[in-house]
Amino acid sequence: MKIHPWFCRLPTLLVVAFGLAVGTSFPASADNVQVESGPLSDAILQGQKLFMSEKFGGNGKTCNSCHPDGGKSGSALPDGRKIPALHNAAAIFPRYHPRKDRIFTLSDQVRHCIGEIKGKPPEYASAELNAIVSYVSSLSEGQTIDLGGLPK
Ligand code: HEC
Repeated sequence: MKIHPWFCRLPTLLVVAFGLAVGTSFPASADNVQVESGPLSDAILQGQKLFMSEKFGGNGKTCNSCHPDGGKSGSALPDGRKIPALHNAAAIFPRYHPRKDRIFTLSDQVRHCIGEIKGKPPEYASAELNAIVSYVSSLSEGQTIDLGGLPK
């Protein structure tokens, strides 16, 4: 049986059409993540800016001072305690916090870090906290969910 040439090319056409659709409706927002442009990508971008800003009054410190490369790298505190990179954070929260003896969400952790530098943490459910959490979560794109897992 002779197969119609148009039919033969159908799979290629579908792949090209899909590629164009994805390419046009999912422009890059923050460096590493592809989210459909709209309120969520706006929040991620706002969070990325906050990550680099001294807005929280942490004595000149920013999130990036301790979690460099926009959170993609870790560092260490003066006492040698490890500061984790954040590319895994959204995949391992919520997690149990033994010292506080309660479940810690990503929002709790972000507010805790700001408290550590004597800054003023944004309120729960505020646009600012949600933006930072959206940005930090965007770093976990592609990571396997491992609730309660260990920082990297
Ligand atoms: C003075 C250094 C310092 C600053 C500034 C800081 N952090 Fe942290 N961060 C830490 C340390 C240390 C940890 C490890 C857990 C702990 O001790 O609370 C941590 C843990 C985290 C985690 C959990 C990561 C994981 O994989 O378990 C997140 C998320 C986080 N920080 C976000 C932020 C954000 C967002 C900011 C800015 C608002 C910030 N941090 C500012 C030191 C800092």
